[in-house]
Amino acid sequence: MPTTTWNRHHVLSLADFTTAEYDTVLQIAASFQEVLSRRTKKVPSLQGQVVANLFFEPSTRTRSSFELAAKRLSADTLNFAAASSSMTKGETILDTAKTYLAMGTDIMVIRHKEAGVPNAIAQEMDRLGVRVSILNAGDGQHEHPSQALLDLFTVCTLIDRSNPRLELLKDKKIAIVGDILHSRVARSNIWSLTASGAQVHLAAPPTLLPKLFADFVLEEDKTPSSSTLNRQLFLHWDLESALQDADIVMTLRLQKERMTAHLLPSLREYHQTFGITRQKLQLCKPNVKVLHPGPVNRGVEISSDLMDDPEFSLIQSQVTSGIAIRMALLYLLGSGKDSGIAIK
Ligand code: NCD
Repeated sequence: MPTTTWNRHHVLSLADFTTAEYDTVLQIAASFQEVLSRRTKKVPSLQGQVVANLFFEPSTRTRSSFELAAKRLSADTLNFAAASSSMTKGETILDTAKTYLAMGTDIMVIRHKEAGVPNAIAQEMDRLGVRVSILNAGDGQHEHPSQALLDLFTVCTLIDRSNPRLELLKDKKIAIVGDILHSRVARSNIWSLTASGAQVHLAAPPTLLPKLFADFVLEEDKTPSSSTLNRQLFLHWDLESALQDADIVMTLRLQKERMTAHLLPSLREYHQTFGITRQKLQLCKPNVKVLHPGPVNRGVEISSDLMDDPEFSLIQSQVTSGIAIRMALLYLLGSGKDSGIAIK
């Protein structure tokens, strides 16, 4: 069993995650991946605990993945959907959270279209002195920690299935392509990938990757040697230089719902210049792999045939990895730390 390094009560951001924490999550997820390959895909780790999924914004895979992860750990699950809740009668987010708290919720998984909502709820819970843990499942354009961790797990297990760890990505060239400006997935991935020692190349048209973006990220950097980030993060306004010799390409959805202005001439033009196709992948290393967090605009950020090509596409593996990673996070925040690691 892996040695655990974990003192976190909430998972809100990856900005201050340590190497030991990344490795703990990866190794526990690997144990759960093994559980998920068994005929009986369930362990009693969170028996008697309540996990509430509070999704104030639409979601398919993240919500279902957290729900299944909680069920595989034998937790009781509560699912909240804003549109059919008392929020339509004017209840505030904090009051909704307190209602779930009063029902005995141990872990709240929160998604909201505004950045900072999970943090605000976590602060209020800490102020009240209650033991509930908050897990950020995507807040506005800020962060999406579980997505970046599942991306990391997908890539690391490809390199070493039995022992996924952060150092496996050291010096790899990873291109993140697409709507970086609006992407919480990109922001969380920047923290995990630079922490691994990878070279992270961001590529998008200037309207979706403003020059200020890098300064903004560097400003948020709380690591002692922020200059490290400077040497590992590169911005490109063309696709080719980012793809050249890349080991991994992460494509991102055009987040049309977050665009307040017309930032692109047309989707067709975008696909021609920044869409990932088999032909453009020829610039990369021969065994390059492509990721996408989903949902995908087929034929826009990635060509439809490439998306379905198992030789290059890791999109389905990402979905599978997501369950193991979310099991690991729920486990670490839940009873695991009290009862010691006992996945069997
Ligand atoms: C992402 C999200 O919601 O931020 N999707 C996801 O969680 N699988 C990315 C996106 O919406 O494009």
